[in-house]
Order: sequence, then structure tokens, then C-alpha cells
Amino acid sequence: MLKVVKSRRVVAMLLAFAMGTASAAMMPQDMSDEAIAERIKAIGKVKLAGDEESSQQASSDGPRSGQAVYDKFCMACHTSGALGAPKINVAADWEARLEQGMETVFNHAWDGYNAMPPKGTCNDCSEEEIQAAIDYMIADI
Ligand code: HEC
Repeated sequence: MLKVVKSRRVVAMLLAFAMGTASAAMMPQDMSDEAIAERIKAIGKVKLAGDEESSQQASSDGPRSGQAVYDKFCMACHTSGALGAPKINVAADWEARLEQGMETVFNHAWDGYNAMPPKGTCNDCSEEEIQAAIDYMIADI
């Protein structure tokens, strides 16, 4: 008997919960301009937060140095020459490439070129940071 009472209580609680959820879901949404703007703004804010974060990072830390970018993203291929990558500070590897002009060399690094991945996999690198990494790779040739 006690069991029945107990389970009835559980059922009653579940019902109350379900009804509460249902009535919340069925509540008509406020379709006024302000309410809609508020809802859209909330989504916009999420995106903006990411933007703010990266711009904050840029302003507080400044652009990463060529060496920092190289060490983290480019080294894996450009130290060993993996996949035919021109090696850091090996003039023979770079001469013909640099003859194309820095703009082309940069564009190949930015857009990717054969086995060279776009931005050398540094997807959040700025143009300035990629250029700095290139300059770092050819500084001593
Ligand atoms: C997964 C390996 C890999 C990584 C990581 C990588 N590179 Fe490369 N990179 C290559 C290869 C391979 C080539 C040669 C492509 C070719 O000439 O066919 C190359 C070529 C280049 C060139 C010469 C482009 C030209 O016009 O000849 C530049 C500049 C360059 N990489 C910059 C970078 C920078 C900067 C980074 C790091 C931010 C980076 N690479 C990371 C593999 C890599």
C-alpha cells in the first residue's frame, strides 16, 4: 500500500514537472521588435566574444614573433625539409623560390602550395605573423 502511495507521489511529481516544462515551451514567444532584437543579439554576442578575445590577445600580446610562429607551426617541415620543404637558412633551398619575388613566396605560404599547407597550419596567424615567420626562415642566408 505504502508502495502505491509512494509511486503515486512520484507520478504526480513527474506530471507536475512535465506540465511545467510543457507550459514553458508553449508560452507564446514575445514577437515584439525589441524581444526579437534581444534574442538575435544574444547570438551575435557569442560570435563577438570570440572576436573580442582574439583582438584582445593581439592588443595585449602583440603579434607573435617570426621565431615564435616558426617554432610552433613551421619547424616540423622546414627544419628537416620534410615533404620537400625548403629548409631554414639553407640558401640553396631558397634561392629559386625568392627569385619569384617575396609577394609570390608569401602568397604560396598564405594560400598553400603543393604540400605546403595554407598558413603553414597557423590558422589564426595574421599576414604580418606569416611574413615574420618567412623572414625568420631566411634571415641568415
Ligand atoms: C606540413 C609541412 C609544412 C609546414 C607545417 C609548413 N610548411 Fe612551408 N612548405 C612545405 C613544403 C613541402 C613546401 C614546398 C612546396 C613546394 O614548393 O612544392 C613549403 C614551402 C614554403 C614556402 C616557399 C613558398 C614558395 O613560393 O616557394 C614558404 C615561404 C613557406 N613554406 C612558409 C611556411 C611557413 C611560414 C610555415 C609556418 C607558419 C610553414 N611554411 C609550415 C611544408 C610545410
